[in-house]
Amino acid sequence: MLEQLERLPADPILGLAAAARADDNPDKVDLTLGIYMNEEGVCPVFRAVTEAQAALAAEEVSKAYLPPEGVAGFNTGMQELVLSADHPALVDGRVSSVQAPGGCGGLRIGAEIIHAASPGARVWVSDPTWPVHLPLLGSVGLSFETYRYYEPASHGVNFDGMVEDLRQARSGDVVLLHGCCHNPCGADLSLAQWQVIAEMAEAQGFMPFVDIAYQGLGDGLEQDAAGLRLLAARLPEMIVAASCSKNMGLYRERTGATIFIGRTRDNAEALVSQALVAARRVYSMPPAHGALIAGRILGDAALGESWRSELVDMCGRINGLRTSLREKLEAASGRDFAFIEKEKGMFSFLGLSAEQAIRLREEHSVYMLNSSRINVAGVNARNIDYLASAVAKVL
Ligand SMILES: Cc1ncc(COP(=O)(O)O)c(C=O)c1O
Repeated sequence: MLEQLERLPADPILGLAAAARADDNPDKVDLTLGIYMNEEGVCPVFRAVTEAQAALAAEEVSKAYLPPEGVAGFNTGMQELVLSADHPALVDGRVSSVQAPGGCGGLRIGAEIIHAASPGARVWVSDPTWPVHLPLLGSVGLSFETYRYYEPASHGVNFDGMVEDLRQARSGDVVLLHGCCHNPCGADLSLAQWQVIAEMAEAQGFMPFVDIAYQGLGDGLEQDAAGLRLLAARLPEMIVAASCSKNMGLYRERTGATIFIGRTRDNAEALVSQALVAARRVYSMPPAHGALIAGRILGDAALGESWRSELVDMCGRINGLRTSLREKLEAASGRDFAFIEKEKGMFSFLGLSAEQAIRLREEHSVYMLNSSRINVAGVNARNIDYLASAVAKVL
């Protein structure tokens, strides 16, 4: 029975990262994966995480299952982190959530709920979007439509195109939006543009589904959530999938949440009951370790302060790298790379062709996706000159 199954190709991003690891060129530069890396090229553990983890290990007396909805303090902490404690939807009691295995789990549970509520729902995704959105949501049975988003010529958002395409989204449809730090392009909506999307959702009746995996890595925790907070204040219902992988560095601990804003308190509670049945079908109970750590950090003033200040430093470093990279690339190539400084978060399309990205890999051991998406956080003082001169050579 099983022997008929053929070997499948590796995930393109993970496959490239493996190729970069195997490359023995001491000058190699790996800009493939979407993980934060510090100046030493290490994906670090936050000090607050180390502290919270030590305290938890000392206190832990049981490995019994978590309740299916997850760690209570984590769920409320995440609602407040994403929406802010005084958000009108929270004050009205219309917000509920379940812990999920990472942002991916949060997206999957959100998709299950959308499918239960509207099996024929079309999910509108940006062109381009994070490729994993398609299998994560599509395997639930949802179908997709695409809206124009990134415009290579201007290196920015084609907002007129986006609006024109979303004019066709109707009641029962869902529009998937990146909360901040768009993956893969780094081009985000302005607050005025979020406002337009809110007005369209209100008038046309479509529901936003916001994926926020990089809160705190664009402009800051509050600024990065402003767009989705605006939607949640204006619209009767929406779903948010949130991740602690990047902003708390809890990647492998699979820590995330699905947050529901319902029309009423009762509806918000009903959505959690639906989410628990959906989770039971897929993985039963969420993993404990990351959510216990995150819940502790979010609920403790000193740990919270330590985490926030380290996150501010990370965000500052990424934005500083954007400036240095722009300067180095412009000096090496004589071309305009001002767009790198305008984008948010870890990603940018350098605007190279697939052939140029492949040449960078083969001739210079500089690894980026064929789309020329780079992880800006993979740049550091040791590799930036080499990177800029390699890019200039293939241009
Ligand atoms: C756009 C986007 N959404 C969601 C996720 C989910 O991440 P995780 O499941 O690791 O929390 C990622 C991770 O790379 C992402 O880039």
